[in-house]
Amino acid sequence: MPNDLARPDHDPRAVVDELRDVLAETLAGHRVEALAGRVARLIQAYRSGSVPASVILDDPVTVAAYAAYRMPATVAALSAVLEQAADAVPSLRVRRLVDLGGGTGAAGWAVAAWAPELEQVDVLEQSEPARALGAGLATASTVAALRESRWQPWTLGRSALPSDLAGEQGVPADLAVLSYVVGELPDALRHEAVATAMSVASTVLVVEPGTPAGYRRVLGAREVLVGAGFRVAAPCPHQGPCPLAGDDWCHLPARVERSALHRAVKGAELSSEDEKFSYVLATRLPVEPYAGRVIRHPMIRKGLVGLPLCQADGTAAQRLVSKRQGAAYKEARKLDWGDALQH
Ligand SMILES: C[S@@+](CC[C@H](N)C(=O)[O-])C[C@H]1O[C@@H](n2cnc3c(N)ncnc32)[C@H](O)[C@@H]1O
Repeated sequence: MPNDLARPDHDPRAVVDELRDVLAETLAGHRVEALAGRVARLIQAYRSGSVPASVILDDPVTVAAYAAYRMPATVAALSAVLEQAADAVPSLRVRRLVDLGGGTGAAGWAVAAWAPELEQVDVLEQSEPARALGAGLATASTVAALRESRWQPWTLGRSALPSDLAGEQGVPADLAVLSYVVGELPDALRHEAVATAMSVASTVLVVEPGTPAGYRRVLGAREVLVGAGFRVAAPCPHQGPCPLAGDDWCHLPARVERSALHRAVKGAELSSEDEKFSYVLATRLPVEPYAGRVIRHPMIRKGLVGLPLCQADGTAAQRLVSKRQGAAYKEARKLDWGDALQH
């Protein structure tokens, strides 16, 4: 079946909009009040930061609530990373994606939006209701790779990988994603999660909430990846230790357009929100060097831009660019939090 979006001028927004519509149609049978109640409970559970004693996504209503409020935000965060990935790893072509702890499958939608070459999606997930809803959503997509995605029961630390992912004939996938999963794992399993991702794909993406704790977990994952010979492609423009010290932490915003359903289940009025996330994208493919990354909102003054940067030499500093610097100033004015600064 041809992928309808596999054309050079494809628009990533088309997949994001499709997900919004598919979520609205698929979840229409649920009472909004019931979903809103579960969303409130989920927000509380995730904010607590504690490792869950049992599976959180354990029943269809909770899973529906999760999909309604988290899938758009997760797709926004992953999309922001994948947009950066195109420059940072120019040879990355995601034909096969493995989504570990994939929940309702947000990663597949984000990758489908940015990688029209996507052919195969494997979602490994312990929760049966999450697999059921995720597979139902994917079936309603116009993207062939989503419609044909494979959903398999899998619990890290308890289940073996499916045999075609066991990697006996080399690394089977192009990208493995651990999206908001590491924080749900006990310390003892976090290393194993990243090692599993590295065993199935040549590029690994780990995303966590953009909180100090989420950032620390990303740093832990980064250490495992670098230790195994992966190169960090983003957000860091260097391979050394993170230069942020004290109470500072690396995180980025992604704009989420809220649908009517999203607003209703969150009891929110504004038409958009910012999803703050921390991440590491690391790969065995060649990485394109760049000068730095903007790690906070730039400071804009009359005739002056202050860019808070993580730099290629492994330091973090504020770079001031004044109007007198002409082209450099024009470039600096265009940069925003999360953007890469090219050489
Ligand atoms: C916050 S959800 C994230 C789901 C999905 N990755 C996303 O970004 O929407 C955390 C996911 O991790 C899964 N998970 C937690 N512990 C796991 C384990 N030991 N093995 C496999 N999956 C696990 C949960 O079932 C859940 O789907």
